Amino acid sequence: MHPDLAIVPDFPLQRFNTFGIAACARAYLRLTDVAQLAALRADPVLSSMPLLLLGGGSNIVLTGDVEALVLHMAIAGRTIVGRDSGHALVRCGGGENWHGFVQWTLAQGLGGLENMALIPGTVGAAPIQNIGAYGTELKDVFHSLTAYDLASGELRTMDAAACRFGYRDSIFKQAGGAGLVIVDVTFALPLAWQPNLRYAELAQAVRDAGLDAPTAQQVSDIVVAIRRRKLPDPAVVGNAGSFFKNPVVSGAECARLLAAFPALVHHAQPDGSEKLAAGWLIDQCGWKGRTMGAAGVYPKQALVLVNNGGASGAEVVALARAIQADVGARYGVHLETEPVFI
Ligand code: EPU
Repeated sequence: MHPDLAIVPDFPLQRFNTFGIAACARAYLRLTDVAQLAALRADPVLSSMPLLLLGGGSNIVLTGDVEALVLHMAIAGRTIVGRDSGHALVRCGGGENWHGFVQWTLAQGLGGLENMALIPGTVGAAPIQNIGAYGTELKDVFHSLTAYDLASGELRTMDAAACRFGYRDSIFKQAGGAGLVIVDVTFALPLAWQPNLRYAELAQAVRDAGLDAPTAQQVSDIVVAIRRRKLPDPAVVGNAGSFFKNPVVSGAECARLLAAFPALVHHAQPDGSEKLAAGWLIDQCGWKGRTMGAAGVYPKQALVLVNNGGASGAEVVALARAIQADVGARYGVHLETEPVFI
C-alpha cells in the first residue's frame, strides 16, 4: 500500500463530530497532502469504497455507523499570496480551523472575516454551506478555491460563479459538486477596511462598548462575546450550530402570516421575498429548553439543538422532526435542516 495511505479500520468518530454522537467509521484516513488523493484514486480497493469527507464535524448528524472511508481533511497552511485591485489575497489550507484562520488574518492587519469569528469548523468546509454570521457571508470575501476532482484526478480552480453560492448553499451541496474535495480557499480581503455593522445586534454591541471607530480585531472580540453568550460551546454541550435554515417565503405569504402573527420576525430580501427567523417560530411553539430523550433545544437559542449527554443520532432526528411538525402545523412553514444527516 502507498506509504501516504495510513488507513485506520473501525475508527471512533465521537471526538470528531461536535454533536458528540458515538459512531464508528469503517475506515479512516487523515488527509494532510493532496498527493494522498491521487494515491487513493490509484488504489484498486480504496478507490472502490464509498467516501465521506469530514472537516471539523460541526455540521453533521451521525445517524449510525459510517460504512465508508472517512477522509479527514487536515491540509494546513496560511499565506498571503498577493494583491488584486484593493484586496490582499490570502490562501488557507482546507484543514485549518476557521476561527484560528480568522484570528491569523487579523494579526496580519487584515480585516474582512471578523463578523464570522468563532464559527466552528474548518476553512475547507466554509464554502460548502457558504457560512455566514452578523451580516457577512463567505461569498462576500471569497476569491477562489482549489478542488481536487476525484473522478478525473485533476486540480480545479473555481471562482465564486463556479461555486454557485446561495444562502447556506453552494454547488458542493448539489449533484454538480460530487467528488470535489476542497483543498484550499483564497480570500480577497479589503486593504481599505470598513466595519460592516449592518446587523442591528452587532451595531448595538459596538455602541454599548463605546467604540465609535472599532478596529477589525475589536469587532471580532465583540462577535466572539455575543456568540459565547448566545450559543453553546460544542466542547461543553454537543451541538451543530443552527439546526434549521431561516425559511425564505414570498412577500404575500409573509403578509398572510403577519396578519395572524403581528410579532413575526422577518427580514425583506432584495428580490422581494422575506426571510423568517426560524428561532422565533420554534420559540413561539414552546420548544425552547425542551428535551426529548437526551436531545434538547438550547434554552438560550431555539434554533440550536443540543446533546445533553449520550444522545443518539436517532434522538436528534426525532426531536428535529417533532419541531418541524409543530412549526408546519402552526405557521404552514417548512423548516429545512441545516446540518447534513449521515
Ligand atoms: N429568536 C427568538 N427566539 C430564539 C432565537 C431567536 O425569538 O430562541 C429571534 C431573535 O430575537 C431575533 C431573531 O429570532 O429577532 C433572529 O435571531 P438571531 O439574531 O439570534 O439569529 P438567527 O437567525 O437565529 C442566524 C444564523 C446564525 C448566525 C446568526 C447571526 C441561520 C440559520 N443562522 O441565526 O448562524 O450566527 O444569524 O448572524 O442563518 C449557523 O448557521 O450555524 C449559525 C449559528
